Amino acid sequence: MILIISGTNRPGSLTSKIARHYQKLLQKQTTETIELFLLEDFQEGLLHTEMYETSGQSQLLNDAQKKLFIPAKKWVVISPEYNGSYPGALKVLLDALSVNEPDLTFRNKKVTLIGISSGRAGNWLGMDQLTTVLQYLNMHVFYSKPALRQIGNLLDENSELTDPKTISLLENHAKEFLFY
Ligand SMILES: Cc1cc2nc3c(=O)[nH]c(=O)nc-3n(C[C@H](O)[C@H](O)[C@H](O)COP(=O)(O)O)c2cc1C
Repeated sequence: MILIISGTNRPGSLTSKIARHYQKLLQKQTTETIELFLLEDFQEGLLHTEMYETSGQSQLLNDAQKKLFIPAKKWVVISPEYNGSYPGALKVLLDALSVNEPDLTFRNKKVTLIGISSGRAGNWLGMDQLTTVLQYLNMHVFYSKPALRQIGNLLDENSELTDPKTISLLENHAKEFLFY
């Protein structure tokens, strides 16, 4: 199973839209199961003082870790640029996961990153920072990291990805990541 993670809890996030699109295009290229974890749907139970104890982990996170993060052989982390970095909510998620079964969750797994921004950087710096954190957690970060900059120009009025160059870029990226 491959897990796609949308890295923000902002309601109505465009990152979630891209995550859904990426799920469809990845699914067209493989018979493997592709699951989606949207931080946007995970508003409760993440940030609280007991989160640093295994026993204090919320039931919601515990379930997601058992059903999604641990069984996934590969991860796709899609993160927007917030203040020149990736969202704090995504770091909270990684910290919360790391206190419970870190080896089963992270070690030796392959992960690829996709960045999104309304500005011109495409979260390039945030993906670099995320690479450092994921490597610290013993993950193998894929070399190709698409940066979707000026995201507003790539979507139609329903916030669906329609830009042909970006669709082709993501299709090729998915193909390569499946062989990684
Ligand atoms: C708290 C916050 C900080 C942001 N900082 C940046 C930034 O530093 N650079 C940038 O290009 N866009 C920035 N944005 C805009 C996002 O790139 C934009 O919302 C885009 O749609 C992707 O994020 P989303 O998934 O929340 O929609 C920021 C948005 C928020 C909510």
